[in-house]
Amino acid sequence: MSTDNLQELIAGIDRGRLPRHVAIIMDGNGRWAKKRGMERSAGHVEGVNTVRRITEIASELGVGYLTLYAFSTENWNRPQAEVDALMHLIVVAIERETPDLIKNNVRLTMIGDLDRLTDEARERLKRCMDDTAHCTGLTLVLALSYSSRWEITRAAREIAREVLAGHLSPQEITDDTISTHLTTAAIPDPDLLIRTGGDMRISNFLLWQVAYAEIYVTPTYWPDFDKTDFCRAVAEYQRRERRFGLTSEQVK
Ligand code: FPP
Repeated sequence: MSTDNLQELIAGIDRGRLPRHVAIIMDGNGRWAKKRGMERSAGHVEGVNTVRRITEIASELGVGYLTLYAFSTENWNRPQAEVDALMHLIVVAIERETPDLIKNNVRLTMIGDLDRLTDEARERLKRCMDDTAHCTGLTLVLALSYSSRWEITRAAREIAREVLAGHLSPQEITDDTISTHLTTAAIPDPDLLIRTGGDMRISNFLLWQVAYAEIYVTPTYWPDFDKTDFCRAVAEYQRRERRFGLTSEQVK
């Protein structure tokens, strides 16, 4: 699509009704590479360029939070060479992009079981988070070694410990208690969930948090997903009526 069309799409987006939080399941890197007779890792390398441009457009539009599912708990079970390559790629890309994140006022944060990362990867990523901690624009949330069931199990254990210690009674446990014990406690729930690569599933991603998210699935593989595709997803989100369990008449 031409730049003119992108500008037209951007102009058509109502800035007063932007999704505050967009979460993305970045899928299709392997298939993108296979289609070109390349190694799967080539798809991940190209996928980093997409991360860059989607961060740019989300920031440009004024989206508050962008969460990217970069590495799931289940991804640890991929062939070791792919796991190592992917981790290395993520750490190097984040370090390389940190000066630009700062320039664009983007704050980096992470959710997931970071204890499973190597000490070196964890320290290098922590440095990037510290370096962008003062930024007040878009918050870029990397879901790394993340899965929803891991997160909910962890929250259940913490809540159980608080009950056992007598700090909380079972009757006092509410939706909010659960939300505040998740790794996303400081982040609003996603309004829009995008999945690239065409599969119609949630893949253990933010199961609790996407309760009322609008879901947008595109067959486009992640390496091909561009700014116009992102704007189309936002435009589609703005055409939807969010009812949160109410009737159409009630929300009008
Ligand atoms: C899914 O594609 C993608 C991943 C498991 C990794 C996504 C990671 C990146 C794009 C790099 C992220 C980098 C930063 C800096 C955040 P797949 O391999 O499952 O593709 P397939 O479904 O076609 O096999």
